[in-house]
Amino acid sequence: MIKLSANENFYGCSPFVKKVIEENAGSVSVYPDYQQGLLKEKIASKYDVPVAKIILGVGTVGIIDAIIRLLVKEDEEIITFERSFVAYGQLANLYKKKIHYASLTNFSCDTIAIFPLVNPKTKVVFIANPNNPTGTIINETQLKAFLNKIPSSIYVVVDEAYFEYVSDNSFPNTIELQKKHPNLIILRGFSKIYGLAGLRIGYGIAEEKTAAFLENFRVPFSINSLSSIAAMAALEDQNFVKKCSEQNKMEREFLVEEIKKIGYNVFPSHGNFLFMFFESNADKESVFNKLSENGLMVCNLKIFGQENSLRIGVGDRETNKRIIRSLTIH
Ligand SMILES: Cc1ncc(COP(=O)(O)O)c(C=O)c1O
Repeated sequence: MIKLSANENFYGCSPFVKKVIEENAGSVSVYPDYQQGLLKEKIASKYDVPVAKIILGVGTVGIIDAIIRLLVKEDEEIITFERSFVAYGQLANLYKKKIHYASLTNFSCDTIAIFPLVNPKTKVVFIANPNNPTGTIINETQLKAFLNKIPSSIYVVVDEAYFEYVSDNSFPNTIELQKKHPNLIILRGFSKIYGLAGLRIGYGIAEEKTAAFLENFRVPFSINSLSSIAAMAALEDQNFVKKCSEQNKMEREFLVEEIKKIGYNVFPSHGNFLFMFFESNADKESVFNKLSENGLMVCNLKIFGQENSLRIGVGDRETNKRIIRSLTIH
């Protein structure tokens, strides 16, 4: 089976990073750096922000966990979109925090839909940008308007796990926006384009006090040494990132066009995956089965409670042609 179900980097990780991991395998008997100062410095210098703004986590999910666990008090509430990254809801439920879901507008996240859900108990809003699974983005104008209107006592977490795949010029520059909106928390990671999903390392950029609070509560030594070494090496190989992003864009466009020609409902995506929506669950199951029978493992979004839809990772040309061939079988 070719795995196209978890939005991983189809091309794996950079060969340079693999080599660095191998070279450092002998160091695993030693505890990692407690503070992870060097990794934080490298991330901070990449974005030209103070080191004190960097938060690390066991995956981006580790930081989402910390935000829900630590920033949202017992009687406070969370808002996100329906058909978005499932971890927001899973972790809110786990910690018994109330979460509201804003409706999508034509399968896009329109921030206007959030305001009717805002109340004095609202503490955090999670926005995945690009959104997983729909692949749509909120642009700079929309995000600016949202940040100007939402009370500054509410944290706005913009989860940019797929940031490096975006080529649209209207995509927000959240690092700049954060200078005016200290309630904005940016999340990015190493699981997607950097191809390090198995090493579980992600980072956030937040106003200093918030970052210090979240960092102080991080489980001691939770960022393991190989993850941190690999992340630093990965940051150095920007050529790999650029190549993967360009290749993905080309293949994404090819796949969308070809799927549309067959007559299926597929949406333009800004990530490394596509969202397909079907009239009925039976139609969806039939396509899912055709893909499985042809060795293509895609995500049946029903497992996340999202009906009538599939999410398909963008592969290389050969794999994408195989997807198209499978969809045309009657
Ligand atoms: C929007 C979004 N955020 C975060 C993650 C998880 O990232 P990580 O592997 O860094 O925990 C995913 C993974 O699918 C995602 O889609």
